[in-house]
Amino acid sequence: MAISRLLVAILVLSFCRGEARSPFREETKTCHPECSRHGNCNGETGQCDCPFGLTGPTCTQRLLPACHPSTNDSTTPFHGAAYPKNCACYRQLRALPGACPDVKFEDPGGRDFLPCLFESMMGPDLLCYQYTDRPEAEQLSDSPPLDHPGLEWREMRSLPNLREEVLPRDKWPKEVKTNDGGVWRPLKDCPDNCNFRGWCQVGGAYQEHRGPDPWCNCHGYYEGKSCEIADPSHCYRNCSGVGQCVRGWCHCQPGYWGHGCTRRKAYASSAGWLPNHADIKVYVYDLPEMVAHRRENNDWWAGVDPIYASEVEFMEQLLGDWSVRTENPWEASLFVVPTFTIWYTRNTGGPYVIFNWVSRYLQQTSPFWNATGGRNHVFFATNDQGACRLQQAPDELQHSIKVVHYGLSPRRPYAHHSNPQAGQHMTGALPLPGHRFQGFPEFTAADVLEEHWMCYRPEKDVVAPNFLSRDWVIPENYDQTFNVSVLPDGRHVISRRPDAPERNITFYFLGNTPSGLMYYSHGVRQALNKLFGPGGKHNANGSQPRLDYWVNSPLHKHPRVDMERSKFCLAPTGYGWGSRITQAMMTGCVPVIVQDHMYQAFWDVIPYEEFSIRIPRANLHRIVELLDLVTPEQLIKLQEGVAKWHNAFHWFEDLGGLAYNYTVTSLKRRALRLWSEDYRHLRHAHRLRS
Ligand SMILES: *[C@@H]1O[C@H](CO)[C@@H](O)[C@H](O)[C@H]1NC(C)=O
Ligand SMILES: *[C@@H]1O[C@H](CO)[C@@H](O)[C@H](O)[C@H]1NC(C)=O
Ligand SMILES: *[C@@H]1O[C@H](CO)[C@@H](O)[C@H](O)[C@H]1NC(C)=O
Ligand SMILES: *[C@@H]1O[C@H](CO)[C@@H](O)[C@H](O)[C@H]1NC(C)=O
Ligand SMILES: *[C@@H]1O[C@H](CO)[C@@H](O)[C@H](O)[C@H]1NC(C)=O
Ligand SMILES: *[C@@H]1O[C@H](CO)[C@@H](O)[C@H](O)[C@H]1NC(C)=O
Ligand SMILES: *[C@@H]1O[C@H](CO)[C@@H](O)[C@H](O)[C@H]1NC(C)=O
Repeated sequence: MAISRLLVAILVLSFCRGEARSPFREETKTCHPECSRHGNCNGETGQCDCPFGLTGPTCTQRLLPACHPSTNDSTTPFHGAAYPKNCACYRQLRALPGACPDVKFEDPGGRDFLPCLFESMMGPDLLCYQYTDRPEAEQLSDSPPLDHPGLEWREMRSLPNLREEVLPRDKWPKEVKTNDGGVWRPLKDCPDNCNFRGWCQVGGAYQEHRGPDPWCNCHGYYEGKSCEIADPSHCYRNCSGVGQCVRGWCHCQPGYWGHGCTRRKAYASSAGWLPNHADIKVYVYDLPEMVAHRRENNDWWAGVDPIYASEVEFMEQLLGDWSVRTENPWEASLFVVPTFTIWYTRNTGGPYVIFNWVSRYLQQTSPFWNATGGRNHVFFATNDQGACRLQQAPDELQHSIKVVHYGLSPRRPYAHHSNPQAGQHMTGALPLPGHRFQGFPEFTAADVLEEHWMCYRPEKDVVAPNFLSRDWVIPENYDQTFNVSVLPDGRHVISRRPDAPERNITFYFLGNTPSGLMYYSHGVRQALNKLFGPGGKHNANGSQPRLDYWVNSPLHKHPRVDMERSKFCLAPTGYGWGSRITQAMMTGCVPVIVQDHMYQAFWDVIPYEEFSIRIPRANLHRIVELLDLVTPEQLIKLQEGVAKWHNAFHWFEDLGGLAYNYTVTSLKRRALRLWSEDYRHLRHAHRLRS
């Protein structure tokens, strides 16, 4: 008896010791037994993760019932403005949490912040219909004939408040045009009702549809004559071979969940949050689709311009990189929040609404947000102006780490707050409009203001390069400059070709140069045009002609081909970040960066002095003198630097791309910051860096 008691005591003791060594234990929750039919059981939350549009413990409850085209339970809701929907659909959409947050947000620039998560909510007068003979619960967006009995036509506006008006009968539509110039038709006129995955129209976009036959214009993620083919290319990691890709969402086999079906385990901790300081780990959130998803725009648009796709590319690699990633948030130092930001902002919008909504959601639901006030949470904003003007947003939005392409961090930020607690932080008068730099056209006050948005805080944010499509990177094009050999183990060894074509263009730039809009590229493109354009000093007819400088030259063929023949390539900004530096690096052309107050991609990780030239705007008028001073030996050294570091600027792992790796490195350094005295200072300051 005594012995067995002793034994129990020893067992308990050793068990406790074991637990003291690792405070974490696996603890995977279970869901409703029927969850996995339509959803994924999230073993961490114990909730059934549903595709967008469905909810409940078995994902059979419709979130937006009136946006479905049918009662058939295989359908998904569509809520864009490309063709008329049931008014109840828009009402239900407007009522979703976060759909159009109560925006107390002043934008002195007067543009760009989309106040709703869903684009159809922002149209001024949305045409919609409603069945007068059915209750709300039976309303559908089933594309009936316009003159269907029992239909009533209305107009709706969501902002600033929901307003809905029945149209007088003489204003009811006789015909509805589609955006592409076609005519919208009832769904039943099309083959197989487009499988409820598209809308029906006559004429419009494509040559092959010029005839009288109705055809299916498929929603994003679907293709085929009757939209019968689901395009699987919009899911992370092709659902890891253990799931099916459904409209950008993975339906995983039981036991798997999360982005790309990459999750299998969940954890609990007896010691609370205890991040590992020796091996910095990253945890990736799997937010419910209702909170953020790879949504389509306006019914039809599932893709984004690939130059904005670095968030997706980063996630694709991180999700499979278990040397950095952890499924255990209790040991994670950094928390990546996939928000699919570019789908919400498009290129010219700002990420304020989606960040605000997701941050607040995490604040309420994740124990890890409040631990640091969100300071170790990572968001991507690859839109043109990235995180500009976030200083006007509430405090809890400002602290998190932003990964951007636009690293503008002005010396004297203009930081007018609409947030009374944050106070006014305009730290000095802005430069005067008018003449500012020699050789530049005049700036207006609005142009000057544009340069003084705080877009990037170097101590906590990360600048990564934009995504460049494969044709810039593939060996066949690359071969012009670089010798690519593939080793037996599949690795690529890339070196500069000794026989690369002669680079007899000294300086190259081709690009949009809107005259009079000096906020575009902060006047750099305009000043260069002045110098080399008609009447300019270095124009062919000027006092010091330079035919070896191609500035918007009529001789250009293709930027890639011309840059492969150039020694120096201008890397300016545009409306926001510019892609010329990544292009220059891919073509072996030494980038000449003219971007005042702008942090460059991986500035904290790679040595820019080895591969680039930097010129301030104040000296741009002397660019020819400055580049003439570069000796052939110095140029060769710079070109070798480009060859050595160019892989940092592209994302193709199979072609040696390191953009993912350096983003991780840069993020890890932000974790070190988090644990430094500096950072604590910031935390207590509760206000902007000045
Ligand atoms: C639902 O729609 C699918 C696809 O069009 C079809 O195969 C199926 O038979 C429909 N189910 C019902 C109950 O109508
Ligand atoms: C994606 O996965 C599916 C099955 O899970 C497979 O049939 C398909 O070939 C995969 N596609 C690619 C591009 O790997
Ligand atoms: C985090 O803090 C906020 C504000 O104090 C609070 O409302 C919220 O409930 C907290 N979140 C959690 C998960 O405890
Ligand atoms: C390319 O590199 C490989 C080895 O790295 C070398 O054998 C080959 O000669 C090089 N080709 C050219 C054209 O420089
Ligand atoms: C520059 O090189 C290209 C071929 O690489 C050649 O066609 C062109 O004539 C050269 N131009 C000058 C000005 O030497
Ligand atoms: C130079 O002047 C000639 C004659 O005035 C004109 O035809 C030509 O277009 C000018 N070239 C440039 C590059 O401005
Ligand atoms: C970059 O990261 C990938 C993981 O996605 C890894 O396989 C590769 O070895 C890393 N490359 C370097 C040079 O660290």
